[in-house]
Amino acid sequence: MDDLRQKYLDLVAGAADEATLEDIRLQAVGKKGEVALAMRELGKMTPEERQVQGPKLNALKDEINSALAAKKAALGDAALDERLRGEWLDVTLPARDRRMGSIHPVSQVTEEVTTIFADMGFAVAEGPQIEDDWHNFDALNIPPHHPARQEHDTFFMHRDPGDNRPPHVLRTHTSPVQIRAMQKQGAPIRVIAPGRVYRSDYDQTHTPMFHQVEGLAIDRDISMANLKWTLEEFCRAYFEVDEVELRFRASHFPFTEPSAEVDLRCSWEGGQLKVGQGDDWMEILGSGMVHPKVLESAGVDPTQWQGFAFGMGIDRIAMLKYGIPDLRAFFDSDLRWLRHYGFSALDMPTMRGGLSR
Ligand code: PHE
Repeated sequence: MDDLRQKYLDLVAGAADEATLEDIRLQAVGKKGEVALAMRELGKMTPEERQVQGPKLNALKDEINSALAAKKAALGDAALDERLRGEWLDVTLPARDRRMGSIHPVSQVTEEVTTIFADMGFAVAEGPQIEDDWHNFDALNIPPHHPARQEHDTFFMHRDPGDNRPPHVLRTHTSPVQIRAMQKQGAPIRVIAPGRVYRSDYDQTHTPMFHQVEGLAIDRDISMANLKWTLEEFCRAYFEVDEVELRFRASHFPFTEPSAEVDLRCSWEGGQLKVGQGDDWMEILGSGMVHPKVLESAGVDPTQWQGFAFGMGIDRIAMLKYGIPDLRAFFDSDLRWLRHYGFSALDMPTMRGGLSR
């Protein structure tokens, strides 16, 4: 019995995997294993011998079984350790962003603007780029033959003779989204609408497709003062300076009354733009109190509700903030330009973490 014990404990200790261990188990304590055969021998013994040998054999069987179980657990642990070592991965390593391309300044600035206005409680609204001329013009108090229609250098969608559907244009500004947002949501409302707009124009500061962001805030008693504060807060956050100064210049838009163009105090020393100081003024947007006729077209009662709207060129404020001289390069898809002016795909602008780095 001691030989059996030694033999099997040695075999178990030396087993390299679970399959070998199973073979050893069958050979030792299986139904036809050596221990079972030894048990069969008990029948030939005297009762006295049997009383001594029986428990010993049972103890041997238990001992081998528990050696098998312990070895099996150890082999399992070792296999798991091996697998964990092989699949080890440092999830805290920074990703390699070089191969991810870069974020276009227009996308970056759209994110920045959206982040700032979201922080002030503005939701994002959208509208179609192919717009019907009612939303693009009439609803904004620009009736047919109004001179403002000519000023917009509009692209008209093709129409076959006899086509009676309403005429469509490529939207010339984001202001039609004011109408759509109010039709959908009514008042009160606070939205911005960033997006593409189109005008037939092309030089260093004009491209036939460019980007605007519209702002709209309607409530019971919103005034020009709220507009001024909102724009000041925006400029401070966007240009990442402590102080800004805005100048409201009387202007005219058919869809606002009164209307103002807004200039930002700045300086251009050595071709470097500094915002908030200096003796220059730079126009950054158009704005005003939403015209009662516009509210009416959108189904909002102008005797109950009032508010402001503004429209700002995204490409233009991107050029100003990041010192990009020529607008046309924005849309050339030149990889060298994108590498130079682009932003890391992994740096999302946030109010707390910073807008740009
Ligand atoms: N839609 C005007 C433009 O494109 C900008 C604007 C928007 C002005 C809202 C006033 C209010 O020039």
